[in-house]
Amino acid sequence: MNSTEKSTETLQTLTDLITALSEGERTTYNHIIHSAKFKPTDFDAYSFWLTDCYTRNCIIDTESFELILICWCEGHKTPIHDHGGEECWVKVIDGEFKEVLYKKNEKDELIAVKSSISKTNQVSYMKDFMGFHSLENISNKKSMSLHLYAKPIRKCTVFDEDSKGFINKEMSYHTTASTRIKKLN
Ligand code: SIN
Repeated sequence: MNSTEKSTETLQTLTDLITALSEGERTTYNHIIHSAKFKPTDFDAYSFWLTDCYTRNCIIDTESFELILICWCEGHKTPIHDHGGEECWVKVIDGEFKEVLYKKNEKDELIAVKSSISKTNQVSYMKDFMGFHSLENISNKKSMSLHLYAKPIRKCTVFDEDSKGFINKEMSYHTTASTRIKKLN
């Protein structure tokens, strides 16, 4: 067992997770995110819900990785999207999610190829060679998921249901450390 694996055995706080990611290489991120065990209340400082869309709340954004908390109301769903060439891990903090994986066929049409359910503490992984995906909160309550991107995702490609084509999208946050400080004051 190497030192990173040893130090992530008891990863129980967000600070421990951030330290392990900051000190680790990208090749250790999968082990680190699986090793973390959180309670929903660990995210009280970051959680923020809106009724009309899921919210993206930045926990930390470095040159190497980005950690965000997504807060979902019942039925909230992402559009079908890729991950801008980066790796993506999704850890369920509270709730139950449906992930649908899509691939393009030879006519460039999107075909759903796999569907899976993730429950609390489970982790799923995506990279663009696997295709596109959508995520949906299928629990009857407000839910939360923790997303680790390496490197950070600044832009991605999203399937637009109106035009039935792909569009480029700049990523943004609903809350960051500075917006949360403003709210406190
Ligand atoms: C997002 O980051 O907005 C989408 C969720 C994901 O695929 O990780």
